[in-house]
Amino acid sequence: MMRIYVPRDAAAVAVGADEVGVELERTAARHGTAIEIIRTGSRGMCWLEPMVEVTTPQGRVAFGPVGVSDVPSLFEAMSANGPHPLRLGLAEEIPWLKRQTRLTFARCGVIDPRSVEDYRAHGGYKGFERALSLTPPQILAEVTASGLRGRGGAGFPTGIKWKTVADANADRKYIVCNADEGDSGTFADRMIMEGDPFVLIEGMTIAAITVGASKGYIYIRSEYPHAVEAMNAAIAAAERAGWLGARIGGSAHSFDLEVRVGAGAYVCGEETSLLESLEGRRGLVRAKPPLPAHKGLFGKPTVINNVLSFAAIPFILAEGAKAYADFGMGRSRGTMPIQLAGNIRHGGLFETAFGVTLGVLVDDIGGGTLTGRPVRAVQVGGPLGAYFPRALFDTPFDYEAFAARDGLIGHGGIVVFDDTVDMAKQARFAFGFCAVESCGKCTPCRIGSTRGVETIDKIRRGERVSENLAVVEDLCNTMKFGSLCALGGFTPYPVMSALKHFREDFGPAPTRLQAAE
Ligand SMILES: Cc1cc2nc3c(=O)[nH]c(=O)nc-3n(C[C@H](O)[C@H](O)[C@H](O)COP(=O)(O)O)c2cc1C
Ligand code: SF4
Repeated sequence: MMRIYVPRDAAAVAVGADEVGVELERTAARHGTAIEIIRTGSRGMCWLEPMVEVTTPQGRVAFGPVGVSDVPSLFEAMSANGPHPLRLGLAEEIPWLKRQTRLTFARCGVIDPRSVEDYRAHGGYKGFERALSLTPPQILAEVTASGLRGRGGAGFPTGIKWKTVADANADRKYIVCNADEGDSGTFADRMIMEGDPFVLIEGMTIAAITVGASKGYIYIRSEYPHAVEAMNAAIAAAERAGWLGARIGGSAHSFDLEVRVGAGAYVCGEETSLLESLEGRRGLVRAKPPLPAHKGLFGKPTVINNVLSFAAIPFILAEGAKAYADFGMGRSRGTMPIQLAGNIRHGGLFETAFGVTLGVLVDDIGGGTLTGRPVRAVQVGGPLGAYFPRALFDTPFDYEAFAARDGLIGHGGIVVFDDTVDMAKQARFAFGFCAVESCGKCTPCRIGSTRGVETIDKIRRGERVSENLAVVEDLCNTMKFGSLCALGGFTPYPVMSALKHFREDFGPAPTRLQAAE
């Protein structure tokens, strides 16, 4: 029986993975060959999708990017374990993959995301089993010692958050997973949910037994129908196998998990607004305090973490805090699943220890722009992240190093722009995005963002440029210091970084662009 792996990941499906799978089945039937097709997640090399793998005596051999018309010749090459123009060699040996440190993404693209048995066979639930042998304070000590910080954007220490909920006295507590993943150029949460959903379930279950919660929700953005389907299938499989529900894994603990689908607002990724949405209301940001850890979902103490934060937990418990904390630099411990996107040659998911420089990520790993033109700017950390010019490419990927240069790493998304980008337009976009997505609760964000769009338009028309630039700066300060949440509070980062590093773009008629054309 020939075993073939075809990704079911939305990015692979978008470029024809389903059709390739069907064609493989047809071709095998014509040849009278018995095959088994296993639909996996993606290995994360987007430019090679659909990437198909076949089991050989040497290991899994990869081919990509495979089109439907390649299938007949591909099938023959697979049957004979012979050469083919799309043959990439052993999947694990592909340099882009081999260079990574895959702790969170170790199984993504490898296992069948619908099979608990496959998950178990690849080390799944080892972390949970170890957690069962520890007391909640001991689990908290492990999570704290690992140095794990929230991967959703703010980088808050996960151990401290969990301890606050564990220490709270309440009849009910909740575990909520933030899978709203609204940042531009990010897709790591989606990839985990589609490629290794049990690691998220296991991470949330460990959180539940640590803080004493028996109910959890995963809030997934509505734009992720494949992830919703994958998570629901995995939850049902985990329930059937006794890994969710009453007496999980034979223990005294019970934990139920449900998926909730968001309604399409960026601000619903902000934790308090997400909780409002989960409770059935419009996504309006709540004032803090109280923190969700004290008074969260339905007024009860709630752990709310990003997908990647929960997904890092099983490794930490299985291998020990030190094994995780040994990677990284400074106060940024462990690995970060970095997402390379935008105008880039080798886009995809690259998990690596903190400390790699932005230049290495963009030029070396990413291979520069797809258009082949020079890289002019990169935006790191989503729509509220700063634009960095080449001069800052020596910045190491580290929370503090980025903050020191008025940037942020956020959820690890890097969006690359070539030299045709108009940075005044990007600054306008930042204000415009904030205006559209603002929940409207506070004035600096609700009004300031719209005034920002108007003022940038005046600058671009050449109207009293220096006075209007001063107005932009003033608006940014008001938004930064006067906004209730980071949507209004961080919009100044893309705006001010564009102004600081690309001043030449602000003014009438972008002469630089005309020269480039
Ligand atoms: C406007 C806005 C949007 C956000 N969107 C997300 C998101 O899509 N996913 C996410 O995990 N965190 C998002 N956050 C951060 C959350 O508020 C919160 O910090 C996070 O869920 C905490 O989990 P962590 O500690 O594991 O990062 C957003 C914050 C703001 C202000
Ligand atoms: S900053 Fe914007 S999104 Fe945040 S609470 Fe204020 S109005 Fe709402």
